[in-house]
Amino acid sequence: MATARDLEALAIDIAREAGALARRRRDEGVSIAATKSAVADIVTEADREVEAMIRARIAAERPGDGFLGEESEAQRATTDTTWVVDPIDGTVNYAYGIPSYAVSIAVVTGEPDPQEWVAQAGVVFNPVSGELFRAARGEGAFLGDHRLAVNTAPTAAGALLATGFGYDPATHAGDIARVARVMPIARDIRRIGSAALDLAFVAAGRLDGYFERGLHPWDHAAGALLVTEAGGRVGGRPGGRPGREMTIACGTGLFEELQARVAM
Ligand code: IPD
Ligand code: CA
Repeated sequence: MATARDLEALAIDIAREAGALARRRRDEGVSIAATKSAVADIVTEADREVEAMIRARIAAERPGDGFLGEESEAQRATTDTTWVVDPIDGTVNYAYGIPSYAVSIAVVTGEPDPQEWVAQAGVVFNPVSGELFRAARGEGAFLGDHRLAVNTAPTAAGALLATGFGYDPATHAGDIARVARVMPIARDIRRIGSAALDLAFVAAGRLDGYFERGLHPWDHAAGALLVTEAGGRVGGRPGGRPGREMTIACGTGLFEELQARVAM
């Protein structure tokens, strides 16, 4: 049976190949293929091509494993293992040429549902910066050879927090009200445009915390494992796991205060 480390190694290899393809397609020029849930929610040909490449490699190397990805139909596993994939997280950045996007690949066991699964491995790779964040369950989170640790407690100047705004205009007023509620404890706010990178940056201590409503499983699957393996806490509504209603990630010292302000 494959260990978490074996799964991490395969996810790294696939993420590197996928990232190289995404970057090559970006250099050749990107056009928007379609809009999805809202006009702001776009997909490029590259998103689809990169997901197909990832899917084909998983099918070849781990037949029977399930697949849950942003751009194609889910497939249930005949094994206990499912791959949760965002081929390009940060598609709007990608389309505009902003170099903040990432391939996000997680390997989970159990039910393919973020409320239930157990994440075994997670990789977030930005092919422009070359940074590859990785974690295997129980083995820590790393950027290259450097072991990652979340920031434990915010300074007197407040916490550097990131968030995002879903594509559905009906939710924007609530998102903005949430930002207003966290400002008293924030040093400043970032909106990077890739949930996977937001979570990787919390793991790396580049952000003190992150929160967002409306995420899909593939947005947070890999990044959440990076944060917990870096000693942080990830959750949703009080007592809940991260999901569509809310995702919160930060050091343990900040978690309850941040949750009280955003998960109302
Ligand atoms: C989006 C990004 C963004 C977040 C959105 C996500 P996509 O994913 O992660 O930062 O605010 O909620 O949907 O569409 O670029 O894969
Ligand atoms: Ca995404």
